[in-house]
Amino acid sequence: MSLRGRVLIVDDDPEFGLVAQSLVELEGLTAQLVNSGSEALAVCGEQNCDVVLLDLMLGDVSGLDVLREIRSRSETLPVIMVTAHGSMESAAEAVQAEAFDYIGKPFRAEELKSALRRALEWRKQQRNGHNNHPAKTTTSPSIVGRSSAMVAVYRAIARVAATDSTVLISGESGTGKELVARALHDNSPRSKRPFIPVNCGAFTETLLESELFGHVRGSFTGAMANHRGIFETATGGTIFLDEISETSPAFQVKLLRVIQEQEVRPVGAPESRRVDVRIVAATNRRVQDLFSAEDFRRDLLYRLSVINLELPPLRERKEDIPLLVEHFLQRFNARFGKAVTAPSETIDWLCQFDWPGNVRELENAVERAVTLNVGGKLLPEDFMQFTPTPLVRVAVQTQTIAANVQSAAPETAIAPSSPFWICELPRTLEEVERQHILAMLRYTKGNKLRASELLGIGRYSLYRKAERLGIDLNQED
Ligand SMILES: Nc1ncnc2c1ncn2[C@@H]1O[C@H](COP(=O)(O)OP(=O)(O)OP(=O)(O)O)[C@@H](O)[C@H]1O
Ligand SMILES: [Mg+2]
Repeated sequence: MSLRGRVLIVDDDPEFGLVAQSLVELEGLTAQLVNSGSEALAVCGEQNCDVVLLDLMLGDVSGLDVLREIRSRSETLPVIMVTAHGSMESAAEAVQAEAFDYIGKPFRAEELKSALRRALEWRKQQRNGHNNHPAKTTTSPSIVGRSSAMVAVYRAIARVAATDSTVLISGESGTGKELVARALHDNSPRSKRPFIPVNCGAFTETLLESELFGHVRGSFTGAMANHRGIFETATGGTIFLDEISETSPAFQVKLLRVIQEQEVRPVGAPESRRVDVRIVAATNRRVQDLFSAEDFRRDLLYRLSVINLELPPLRERKEDIPLLVEHFLQRFNARFGKAVTAPSETIDWLCQFDWPGNVRELENAVERAVTLNVGGKLLPEDFMQFTPTPLVRVAVQTQTIAANVQSAAPETAIAPSSPFWICELPRTLEEVERQHILAMLRYTKGNKLRASELLGIGRYSLYRKAERLGIDLNQED
């Protein structure tokens, strides 16, 4: 099917603008090229264009300002942001400002074509009175991150929020699955209706069924009254089925039927009832593993993963750590009435850890450090003070560290996965001393004088200790 419509291209790079123009025209669309934000606004105002292709980096004004201005004038004109690689900083803001989609620069002709097609289809729907707004972000500001992996997540949210498609969010624990599920709901036409999270792993099979589908009085021992299920309570809204992979195959069959038929039958009820809910599910197992898992039904998996949003672990997007730390600092400063700041040395030091508990672990670490801090500047000590931690975390970390210890040659630094492990694991005093010296050397980037000052010992004591503990000081530069 060929496309029809008028595309306004806004780019201050004439060469690139011409390439975009010819690509658009090749698709049979009418293209108009302008090279400044002010011209774009003038054209948008007087002429009827159907979609705007807007460069984020314009000479005279920021593309974001132009986007906001277009938005304030028209809610139904889709704007596709074009962002040069390495200038993705504003992608999160662009989601908030309701860009329809993004494409990276340089883009492939196919990419542009498919973005244009979606935008034009959406525009047509708007004209026909179907009002599903692409991205009305209300909570997304709390999703922090500028790494390309996170930008891909924003794009996906912007793209799928407005639809009713079932979404499966996968990612390790603490990567933000619930946050993303809420963003999907808040940016959807369902946002005025309930968002109900259900932790599937926390219920037995029977209880989960009756919680979700409801039951009638007397349908099983203990069913004293009729009970409306969450599927009915959430009418018009979104159900977030967390830890979906923890459900039994028997339950999975029932859920599949509900999704397919959009009807639920309360336990013990003679008839089914129609339901209108969007399902967003989450798992911390990898989707490809689920496909080969014995305990997860493939038919349900196909159905759930119409759209699969995979959240990357924090260790694969360490460039987000500084932003996240700032974000959490603001939050906890406000909460505890403090004004703690993080020097760049401390941020660099935090970036070296793998954070197996992902953003949640970092968040807890910052909270604890802000609470413990006295001088107003966060230092590694604030993160390393002993506080009792839940057993679960210790267990997780023990595993990670055990793996690290085994693979590390005795004279090399063991890369700790998070800053707390020194205090959490039973080990000899000598080992604690060794790790503390190594951590300090990393913190000072191998500066022995500074390290010895921070350790409160003389430089020669540091040399002696290093020799005794088998630390090669020159390697630590
Ligand atoms: N990108 C992010 N920006 C800001 N905060 C985040 C981000 N990702 C996660 N968080 C915060 O980290 C914590 C954990 O996030 P969330 O509960 O969404 O993770 P999860 O993937 O559902 O974890 P689990 O699998 O353990 O349930 C929350 O407090 C959340 O607000
Ligand atoms: Mg969760």
